[in-house]
Amino acid sequence: MNNLEMHQDCERILITADQIRERVLALGEQITKDYHGEEVIFVSILNGSYIFTADLMRAVELPCQVDFMQVSSYGDSTCSSGTLKIKRDLNSDITGKHIIIVEDILDTGYTMRNLINYLGSKNPRSMKICTMIDKPARRTEEVSADYLGFVINEDLFLVGYGLDYAQRYRNLPYVAILKPEIYS
Ligand code: IMP
Ligand code: MG
Repeated sequence: MNNLEMHQDCERILITADQIRERVLALGEQITKDYHGEEVIFVSILNGSYIFTADLMRAVELPCQVDFMQVSSYGDSTCSSGTLKIKRDLNSDITGKHIIIVEDILDTGYTMRNLINYLGSKNPRSMKICTMIDKPARRTEEVSADYLGFVINEDLFLVGYGLDYAQRYRNLPYVAILKPEIYS
């Protein structure tokens, strides 16, 4: 797949690179204010949130650390299998620390519900949720983000800025939906 094809596979851009940049800076400023004088550990949920996490952290002016978890509830398809598996766990001890879970998308909320239960059991000093995108249409769990980039009300499968379809399209600088023939 050459670079041109990657862009041509997109049917519509929902969030432009400029919009993302502006929003991430605002989130970074808000977090900087809220945690003034404190240290934060960002718990980045791989793979989808790696780009968002990298940009967000550079917009935060606080002493902070990053750690990663990889969990799976999705295979190569566009719908949840309904089970959560920890594929990679934290390296750091979060007990007594301020943590912010950084996710790419809150969809059904199932992943986040499980993460909250799991990370909460390690007794962090505080735990907040930051998600780049909230898709409330398919929410089944009662979870909401403390820091939120964008709300997409339509039930759409999104790619770009870290989000993949079958592991591709993460490097698109914007968030888009693909042409229907790509998904089939
Ligand atoms: P949930 O458990 O249903 O909330 O699903 C959350 C996870 O599913 C996210 O962390 C994403 O990795 C993945 N996901 C949900 N919707 C999309 C999408 O539109 N594009 C890409 N990944 C998605
Ligand atoms: Mg994810």
